[in-house]
Amino acid sequence: MRNFILGVVITILVLVFGGLGLALLGFFPTRANVTPPQMESHIAMSALDNSVDRHAPHTTNPVPPTDENLISGMKIYAMNCGVCHGDLDRQPAALEKSMYPPPPNLIVHPPDDAEWHLYYIIRTGVRYTGMPAWDKALPDQDLWKVTAFLSRISKLPPAAQEYWKKTSGGVAPPVSESAEHDHDHN
Ligand code: HEC
Repeated sequence: MRNFILGVVITILVLVFGGLGLALLGFFPTRANVTPPQMESHIAMSALDNSVDRHAPHTTNPVPPTDENLISGMKIYAMNCGVCHGDLDRQPAALEKSMYPPPPNLIVHPPDDAEWHLYYIIRTGVRYTGMPAWDKALPDQDLWKVTAFLSRISKLPPAAQEYWKKTSGGVAPPVSESAEHDHDHN
């Protein structure tokens, strides 16, 4: 039994120091202008989702989703996030293919996570990726405003939709079927 445990410990040490050694000797690639293998993206995304679920406080958004706040969230997004995550014109982002892992286009594929989940990612960033932590760069109110905007991209109220069209040269925001449905009944 003792030999077995010793064997396990030595194997772990060899793996850890072997991996470190290979890294220090320059065997790991560093290029950011390539696409990660699908398996890697899949595992990393699940690990991120589960870590956020474990660490993020389940707070509700203190900023009410008024027209004014959503438009303000849209402006904050366009100013700080569009370069990586895509602008309101729904074209590919300038840096879409320049990072490893690549930033998802949040305008074309709006996130469907809870607001506390999005807010935590925005506030604290994502380690080992290009996603910055915004807590020291933007006031907390702005983080909640951009969160409110992101979680309502395809169900924005008419005033925010108008503002979107005006600033993106006539490109309309995406509208989800359920939002159209809600609208019919309002
Ligand atoms: C310098 C590029 C860059 C900027 C600027 C940036 N992000 Fe990110 N963001 C990323 C990358 C890269 C990821 C992907 C991280 C990963 O794969 O785990 C990411 C991930 C995210 C996610 C998680 C998406 C998901 O599907 O889980 C959210 C939400 C997000 N960013 C919001 C924002 C907001 C809001 C801003 C502006 C305040 C912003 N980001 C600015 C690079 C950026």
